[in-house]
Amino acid sequence: MSDTMTAMEITKPGGPEVLQPAIRPVPLPAHGQVVIKVAYAGVNRPDALQRAGMYAPPPTASDLPGLEASGEVVALGEGVSGIDLGDQVCALLPGGGYAEYVATPAAHCLPVPDGMGLKEAACLPETFFTVWSNVFMRGGLKAGERFLVHGGSSGIGTTAIQLAHAFGARVFATAGTDKKCAACMDLGAEAAINYRDMDFVDVLEAEGGADLILDMVGGDYIPRNLKALAPDGRLVQIAFLQGPKVEVNFAMLMTKRLTMTGSTLRPQNDLAKARIAQELREAVWPLLSAGCVAPVMDSSYPLAEAAAAHARMEGSGHIGKIVLEVAP
Ligand SMILES: NC(=O)c1ccc[n+]([C@@H]2O[C@H](COP(=O)([O-])OP(=O)(O)OC[C@H]3O[C@@H](n4cnc5c(N)ncnc54)[C@H](OP(=O)(O)O)[C@@H]3O)[C@@H](O)[C@H]2O)c1
Repeated sequence: MSDTMTAMEITKPGGPEVLQPAIRPVPLPAHGQVVIKVAYAGVNRPDALQRAGMYAPPPTASDLPGLEASGEVVALGEGVSGIDLGDQVCALLPGGGYAEYVATPAAHCLPVPDGMGLKEAACLPETFFTVWSNVFMRGGLKAGERFLVHGGSSGIGTTAIQLAHAFGARVFATAGTDKKCAACMDLGAEAAINYRDMDFVDVLEAEGGADLILDMVGGDYIPRNLKALAPDGRLVQIAFLQGPKVEVNFAMLMTKRLTMTGSTLRPQNDLAKARIAQELREAVWPLLSAGCVAPVMDSSYPLAEAAAAHARMEGSGHIGKIVLEVAP
C-alpha cells in the first residue's frame, strides 16, 4: 500500500469548482480506529455547506469533505476488536470520505447489509445515524403517531419516511415538486404535500396535528411547525436551510405543551456516535438486510467529478442519495 493517496480537497471556500484533486498522506489508524480502502463515498448537504465555508469540521477531524463511505478494512489501530482486516463495511466518518483511504473509529463501522452492494451501503451512515438519533432517540416516535418530515425527497427525507413507516407511524412529507411528492408516497408516506401548492399546516391540522416534525428548513417553517403540531407534539430541528432567525410567538409552547429540540451529528463525541451505531445495528440493520428499507439512489459520479455531484445536490433536482465512485 502506497503511503500517499488521491483525495478531493476544498481549495478555498466557494462553489463546487473549489473541489480539486490533491495528493495526501494515507491516514494512519489512531487507537480504536480502522482505515478503510474506500470503494464509494456518500455525498451529503453538510459537505456542500463545509465547501462553502459555512460548516467548519471539528478540530480533530480531517479537513477533507465526506461523512460516510463503504469499502474494505485495510488497517487496524490498537484496541480494535470485533472487526477484521478484509471486512467490508460502511462507516460514519468524522470527515475525509472524498479520498482513497479514510480513518474512522471502529465503533462507527457497520456491516454491509445482506444482499446490498457497496454503492448503496455507502449512502447509509450519515442519514441513518441522523434520522435514528433525531426521530427515534431524541424525538421518541412511536407506532401510530403522525410524523411529518420536510424535504421528504432529500437523502434525510427518504430515509425518515421509510424508517417511520417501517416502525408503524403515519407519515406525512413535504417536497417541492409533484415528482418528488410521488417518490415520497412510494416510500410509505400516506400524504405528500407539494409546498408550492398547498399549506402543510392545513393538511396536518385536518388530521389532528403532527405528533413529531423533523425539520431542516427553518425560517418561516418554525412558527408554522408549531401551529401544525398536535398537543404534546415535538419538533426536532436538524438544519435551517431558510435561516435560523425568525420572530415566533411561543405561547403555543405552553398551551399545546410542545417540545422543541434539535441536534447536529458531526460534533458529537465518539461514544455518542457509537451508541447510535449500536442501536442501528440492532433495530435497523435487520430491516436493511431483509430489504424492507433501502437507500434511494439518485446518481453517481467518479471521485474526480465531485464538483458535478455537488452541483447536482445544490440544484435540488435530485431524489435520494448522490454517491462518489472512488474505487468501485
Ligand atoms: N443535524 C444533522 O446532524 C444533520 C445531518 C445530516 C444532514 N443534515 C441536514 O439535513 C438536510 C438534508 O440533508 P441531505 O443531505 O439529505 O440534503 P439534500 O438531499 O440536498 O436535501 C435538501 C432538501 O431540502 C429541500 N429544501 C427546502 N428548502 C430548501 C432551501 N431553502 N434550499 C435548499 N433545499 C431546500 C430540498 O427539497 P425541495 O426541492 O423539495 O424543497 C432539498 O431536496 C440538510 O439541510 C443537511 O444540512 C443535518
